[in-house]
Amino acid sequence: MISNKEYAARRKDLMSMMGHNSIAIIAAAPERLRSKDTYYPYKQSTNLSYLCGFAEPSAVMVLLPNRAQGEFILFCRDKDPLRETWDGHRMGLLEAKNKLGAQDAFPIDDIEDILPGLLEDKDHVYYSPGKNKAFDGRLMHWVDEVCNNRTIEGNSTCEFVDLDHLLGELRLIKSAAEIKLMRKAADISAQAHCRAMRQCSVGQKEYQLQAEIEHEFMMAGATGPAYTSIVGSGTNACVLHYIENRATLKSGDLVLIDAGCEYHNYAADITRTFPVNGTFSKAQAALYDLVLAAQEAAIKTIAPGVTFDQANKAAIAVITQGLVELGILKGEVEALVADGAYRDFYMHSVSHWLGMDVHDVGDYKVDNHWRVYEAGMLLTIEPGIYIAADNAAVDKQWRGIGIRIEDDILVTKKGYEILTDGVPKQRDQIEKLMA
Ligand code: GLY
Ligand code: MN
Ligand code: MN
Repeated sequence: MISNKEYAARRKDLMSMMGHNSIAIIAAAPERLRSKDTYYPYKQSTNLSYLCGFAEPSAVMVLLPNRAQGEFILFCRDKDPLRETWDGHRMGLLEAKNKLGAQDAFPIDDIEDILPGLLEDKDHVYYSPGKNKAFDGRLMHWVDEVCNNRTIEGNSTCEFVDLDHLLGELRLIKSAAEIKLMRKAADISAQAHCRAMRQCSVGQKEYQLQAEIEHEFMMAGATGPAYTSIVGSGTNACVLHYIENRATLKSGDLVLIDAGCEYHNYAADITRTFPVNGTFSKAQAALYDLVLAAQEAAIKTIAPGVTFDQANKAAIAVITQGLVELGILKGEVEALVADGAYRDFYMHSVSHWLGMDVHDVGDYKVDNHWRVYEAGMLLTIEPGIYIAADNAAVDKQWRGIGIRIEDDILVTKKGYEILTDGVPKQRDQIEKLMA
């Protein structure tokens, strides 16, 4: 769990990065209609979760650095016994204020009367647009009105500043408490992948493996999947974000599972690829070992001070060399790398930040240079090889095989730690677990 002290420190850090005379406005995520009168499970804005941990919709948090009457104001739903009978507990103003450490809490329905007044003398509005379109429009309107009403001696402009950029910087480095939660998310997810390997059998459906995975997530206390679980057997593994999960598992095919749980708002992201019948074929084994070698080479690059692009470069070098050795690519390795010939078979990047969002916030480049790793960053390493079933340019034995191997890696002071090594990835270990 994240303590109130840590939430307060996060807000303080953010406010220390904000300009003079500024305000930060963070809106809760909107509720999303699924069909008629049923809604998707609610998922709070990760920025709002990061700054105060409030989980309810219809809320807006406001940060006002150096404001004597209080720097943290919350607008939220008031108590409503009838709605609470149907939809569950609402904190209401008093409980929200006390539990979250806000200096003031107001009913969300009063925001129209209060927020414009807080904008009046501000030069900068820190805001993250595009995530709650309805609120975006209202805020633009209030800012516009406030600026139009300013006297000619006052500053007539009010600049919007991208809040995501600042929060990205903060969220990129994980605290000890965050690492603890992410370790747990990684452990649960690794156990879930082990369960899928053990339970897998010929004739099952992809969705049944999905059920095994998600059963383990929830039995272990995770909220559920951090993203829609991918279970792709046979050629479905070549569809990078395949989520249909309806096909039958066939003997002789591989199955690729990309699934990770969300635990106390933090995500894990693991991919394993294994044979449906428990034994890799010769062609599958050759490609599998190549992806694994690329993954290990990419992971080995990770250490504080190393730039983010090195892992992908290492993976590309190993994959290209290996594809040439297998006769899938023809030509001179260096030239093939320069030409990007591997892209027919390996078409995504090797890594992304991981945190409260599965593709977490944080810039990958700083002043146009690749970012340097620092201890406390968390990322995935996930190379793959995907050979389209209709790729007539390669020998038949390789066609329709899709393999990805993905782990979650913490950058440490000395180098790195793999958080997801609770699920095997060596071929012999996978075959042993499945036997
Ligand atoms: N699960 C999506 C990804 O690996 O990026
Ligand atoms: Mn990933
Ligand atoms: Mn993944």
